Amino acid sequence: MQTLVPFIPDNAPFTPEQRGWLNGFLAGLYSTAAASAIPIAGPPPSLKIAVLYASQSGTAEGLARKVAKELKSKGHIASLVSLEGYTPAALLDERYAVIIASTYGEGDAPDAVQPFYEQLCLEHFPCCENLSYSVLALGDSNYEQFCKFGIDLDNKLAALGANRIADRIDCDVDLDEPFAKWKASLYASIDDIVAARPARTAPSSSIAGTLSAPSQPSDTSDEDESNATPAHTRDNPFLAPLVDRRALTQDVSSKLTLHMAFNISDSNVTYEAGDACGVIPQNDIRLVDEILHTLNFSGLIPVQLPRAGSTTLLDALLNHLQITRLTRKMIEAYATIGQCHTLFGLLVPEQQAHLEKYTYDRGLIDLIHDYPGVLHDPADLVAMLPRLAPRLYSISSSPHAHAGQIHTTVAVVRYRSHNRERGGVCSTLLADRTPTGNRLPIYIQPNKKFRLPKQSDAPVIMIGPGTGIAPFRAFLHERRALGSTGRNWLFFGERSAATDFLYREELEAMQKDKHLTRLDLAFSRDQDHKVYVQDRMLEQAPLFWSWLQDGASIYVCGDAARMAKDVDTTLHTIVQQQGHMDHEAAQDFIQTIKDQHRYHRDVY
Ligand SMILES: Cc1cc2nc3c(=O)[nH]c(=O)nc-3n(C[C@H](O)[C@H](O)[C@H](O)COP(=O)(O)OP(=O)(O)OC[C@H]3O[C@@H](n4cnc5c(N)ncnc54)[C@H](O)[C@@H]3O)c2cc1C
Ligand SMILES: Cc1cc2nc3c(=O)[nH]c(=O)nc-3n(C[C@H](O)[C@H](O)[C@H](O)COP(=O)(O)O)c2cc1C
Repeated sequence: MQTLVPFIPDNAPFTPEQRGWLNGFLAGLYSTAAASAIPIAGPPPSLKIAVLYASQSGTAEGLARKVAKELKSKGHIASLVSLEGYTPAALLDERYAVIIASTYGEGDAPDAVQPFYEQLCLEHFPCCENLSYSVLALGDSNYEQFCKFGIDLDNKLAALGANRIADRIDCDVDLDEPFAKWKASLYASIDDIVAARPARTAPSSSIAGTLSAPSQPSDTSDEDESNATPAHTRDNPFLAPLVDRRALTQDVSSKLTLHMAFNISDSNVTYEAGDACGVIPQNDIRLVDEILHTLNFSGLIPVQLPRAGSTTLLDALLNHLQITRLTRKMIEAYATIGQCHTLFGLLVPEQQAHLEKYTYDRGLIDLIHDYPGVLHDPADLVAMLPRLAPRLYSISSSPHAHAGQIHTTVAVVRYRSHNRERGGVCSTLLADRTPTGNRLPIYIQPNKKFRLPKQSDAPVIMIGPGTGIAPFRAFLHERRALGSTGRNWLFFGERSAATDFLYREELEAMQKDKHLTRLDLAFSRDQDHKVYVQDRMLEQAPLFWSWLQDGASIYVCGDAARMAKDVDTTLHTIVQQQGHMDHEAAQDFIQTIKDQHRYHRDVY
């Protein structure tokens, strides 16, 4: 269709020069406008995509940051948002969301993300049929509830009518491959969505100057700078000399807990009080040797590992693969290789309890003794074993008080089962197999959610029995070094005061000079009945409540299975009793202090 260009008639009140100029102007204007109405191949339309993450120790956050950056570089408008404090109702305003979610506790969301999920699960939460989404679940298959929060979230969104644009992938400790696979499928779906949308009409520069310009890849430099990748990561650890190791428990104790110090002065490793130190462990050479011997394999046989590439079987078993624990996947692989019917029998759902009993306190060596003659090819062995994961230890030093050092507080895992003395891979490496002066590969795992209050005069209540004391030793030294005037209250517990009072001299000295305002101790086995930190909290309920009224922040560190739950229940009881509230009001109160970042947990 031809566009009609208006013209100035001869009888219009203009001179011939003026008429000529105006006609020329109109012709030019209309030809440009006509051209601008024709769809031409402009830049592809961009999508507005929310990149959401549920993270406690930063892994999911790090991956989400990468995704947001890549989406921006593809021209999309990507926003990076933590699900902590995120209202699910905001999902109703989103068209596209990608979610990276890690699992904690017994298959739960990270602590701070639980309110988000609870609200999403409310009975009358509206349909999300306008939302297109994909979930990447992070977890660790050593936990029974593998990736459960990511799985639940994915299912919940689907049940709410949201449209899954790329299938969920569940990542185990080895993240790289599944992350890459998920991204490939996600980006392909996003490209399809973009391709299916009408191409953008290229605006003319003259008359469409006020139309929005095609979106440009946003600048990600701010995010990158504020979250600079740490120099040493688990894939690029620092070889830190072990400079000190001493027992914090007495020889006669039923436990061995060690104080360890690494020298980081000749590195660019930095940390903050509250962070954890990751240690890349090595299996015990004696166990590796026994496995090789039992299987009649030479350690020098070349093998291929997904990440490390070509190496020897000895190196693979010593440094890269988990040999001391059994998982369902390992049993499945072993049963398949050997077509082992007894083991297949153990893998049926009805036998779950028996499978758990079998794997609970056995390792690879037991499997190959109990079901011999299965492994003939070292490649099969390597393929069935999961990657040896780093172990985390809450740092017990303060960078301001212990410059150039990292301290950790390590409980050594030793037990006997099925006629064999066994030990935790990393804690026995630290205790028995690393002479002081030797170096170990370490890195910092930041824990931004476990920080002292910004106001140096704010009171803090720290509850850390056992090795849970570690970050609180760091906090106490940090507050002293920085001259923080806030009051400090510590609850510590162990089995017996005579043998297990970790950092006794330091803590008593801090109590004496009033840096530690209160120290409440619970030694469970020092009297007829068991006493735990939560009992001490309850005994001090009025004072505990008054500290809370004064704005105290609460920190809990240590055992997740029982202690953290009991402490949480006790906190609810104190708030209910002292605040004269019913159960619901107490829950709201505790949610409020969580929202104010005054209730932090670092539990494992
Ligand atoms: C954020 C975080 C902070 C942490 N901070 C600290 C800390 O400050 N100090 C500290 O000591 N640890 C800490 N840990 C725990 C630490 O990371 C390791 O899990 C711990 O040291 C055990 O590792 P390991 O390699 O020695 O034992 P592993 O080789 O991992 O073996 C431990 C496993 O052995 C099995 N096991 C243990 N005892 C028995 C038994 N009696 N019977 C049967 N099976 C058994 C269990 O399956 C157990 O999971 C922290 C963990 C996290 C996640
Ligand atoms: C204390 C603790 C509890 C965990 N519980 C589970 C679990 O129940 N299921 C699971 O699959 N992974 C579990 N994990 C593994 C984490 O989900 C996994 O390490 C994840 O990559 C952590 O992500 P983040 O760094 O973003 O928090 C747990 C990890 C820790 C430290």
